[in-house]
Amino acid sequence: MCGIVGYVGPGHAPEVIICGLRRLEYRGYDSAGVALLPDGAQRLLVVKTAGKIAALEKELALRASACAGRCHLGIGHTRWATHGAPTAANAHPHLSANGRIAIVHNGIIENYAALRQRLEDRGAVFRSETDSEVIAHLVDACYEGDLRRAVAAAVEQLEGAFGIAAVSPRHPGLIVAARRGSPVAVGVGDGETIVASDVCAVVSHTTRVVFLDDGDIVAARAGAVDITSARNLPISRELTHVDWDVGRIAKGGFEHFMLKEIHDQPRALADVTRGRLLPADGATRLSGMRMDAREMARVSRLIIAACGTSYYAGMIGKYLFEDFAGLPADVQQAAEFRYRNPIIERDTAMLAVSQSGETADTLAAVREALRKGAVVLGICNVVGSTIAREAGRGVYLHAGPEIGVASTKAFSCQVAVLAMMAVAFGRTRRLSAEAGRHMVNALADLPRIAAAVLERADLIRAVAEKYARARDFFYIGRGYMYPAALEGALKLKEISYIHAEGYHAAELKHGPIALLDSEVPVVAAVPDTPDKVKTLGNMQECRARKSPIIAIATQGDAGAREVSDDVIEIPPCPEFLSAIPVVIAEQLFAYHVARARGCPIDQPRNLAKSVTVE
Ligand code: F6R
Repeated sequence: MCGIVGYVGPGHAPEVIICGLRRLEYRGYDSAGVALLPDGAQRLLVVKTAGKIAALEKELALRASACAGRCHLGIGHTRWATHGAPTAANAHPHLSANGRIAIVHNGIIENYAALRQRLEDRGAVFRSETDSEVIAHLVDACYEGDLRRAVAAAVEQLEGAFGIAAVSPRHPGLIVAARRGSPVAVGVGDGETIVASDVCAVVSHTTRVVFLDDGDIVAARAGAVDITSARNLPISRELTHVDWDVGRIAKGGFEHFMLKEIHDQPRALADVTRGRLLPADGATRLSGMRMDAREMARVSRLIIAACGTSYYAGMIGKYLFEDFAGLPADVQQAAEFRYRNPIIERDTAMLAVSQSGETADTLAAVREALRKGAVVLGICNVVGSTIAREAGRGVYLHAGPEIGVASTKAFSCQVAVLAMMAVAFGRTRRLSAEAGRHMVNALADLPRIAAAVLERADLIRAVAEKYARARDFFYIGRGYMYPAALEGALKLKEISYIHAEGYHAAELKHGPIALLDSEVPVVAAVPDTPDKVKTLGNMQECRARKSPIIAIATQGDAGAREVSDDVIEIPPCPEFLSAIPVVIAEQLFAYHVARARGCPIDQPRNLAKSVTVE
């Protein structure tokens, strides 16, 4: 949600920080700011603006005389408003009253009202409505000449989630950062150090990254980091090599990141399966799971926890585990999990599905499951993310950075990983080598199938433009196509702002069919599967209410064409993987509807890429 970038080193800090903040733009934000320490200055220069990074750059240019000279230290922030409107005053960095401390903060401070009252009683004057500003005053109140110790003492008093970076004009070569519940990564380059909430802001400078754990406090100096616990005990953290090159974070000639990422899918599906398929044995090798056959055979129940698109991928996972591994699987909305009293029996395993690996609700579900003694496996895209690290084992998606707010390639790779896991678990139970071989061969064919859907992009665009002015949509499907229908509706509503509902095809007549008329198109996910005939019947029912029908069907399917106004064809694909081509078609459809309506596709209103608050 919010983004942090801090720089200390020989480069020009304002430039490095602005460039880093731009890399975080995709996360969604409403205001931005920097605190810089020009060489030799006694005071921090703080510049904050509402709106886009361009507004901040403009304001910085107006203050050119103040920061045109050399400047080797600074912190910056993009804010996504929680406490207080998106104004310049509420934007970060926040300063202590005497200007001695500047902080940027991601997360929510739950006890901020009590802290603010206490600090105000002692004379602190607040300038914003945010929860974050208390941190600046608190660090200042704890400051006795050592910035690291002051931050450590302050965070001891904070309740809630945070990633923090702090600077002071008294320490011209130092950034102190701390983490509890909100990610902080530290890139250690040649004589320079970047502190950020997201590795995307780091990789253009260095691929050598240290990920902080909860409770860590880092003193970052040019080219060096020193990590300690709140009690000042030294901690050593592994240096991770992050091989995301900058080119992969750029749009690569596409109009939007989302379109680029949709077109990335043949490559992503090749990467996610690479080295993991064993056709001769009809098996898969997922070494990150760190479970041998005996351990896998002992698992008696799976809980799949996730949010949003990842939840819909999890629903497909449930079907896969039941169909191919005979393994009971529940898919649960992560936000519900920790507030219920979930039953975790011996031999229950949790799969935590999260592109970002930072979603607050999924992370809380992981912690609850670990607390209750479950084996937890992360299915994450972002290497070194909190869920991946806390789960300690799992399977990475290798989809590459997903920048567009709407999740696309992560979904396809999540389904592919879940299918590979179903093979792995299945082969320790009732899945035969022959059946496993059939699945593995189908998985190997996914890049070709995805590419074949993308070849039809122009046709999908034409259909999308035809319906772009509709005000409501229904998406329907059965079996594996039910989650695909839910995902199609989610994609459309989040980027086009059109009201769209996903329903099981059979459920329509239990209520929502009352809403259908000639103004409400129905998108039917109806590839050639055993359920198809029944869905065709449901499409007839919609047609009888005059709804225009758009079918996503297997190429050459005359039955689907007969009951539809428009058909988006996908190549033949085994049922267990058919959600992947169907959802790719839905992604393109949603993209072109949103484009035709002139929507800001990569950063839809009110949404953030990584939802790190409850
Ligand atoms: C929809 C979308 C969200 C995310 C959800 C979970 O396009 O992106 O629904 O899927 O916020 O995010 P992760 O997968 O990062 O846990």
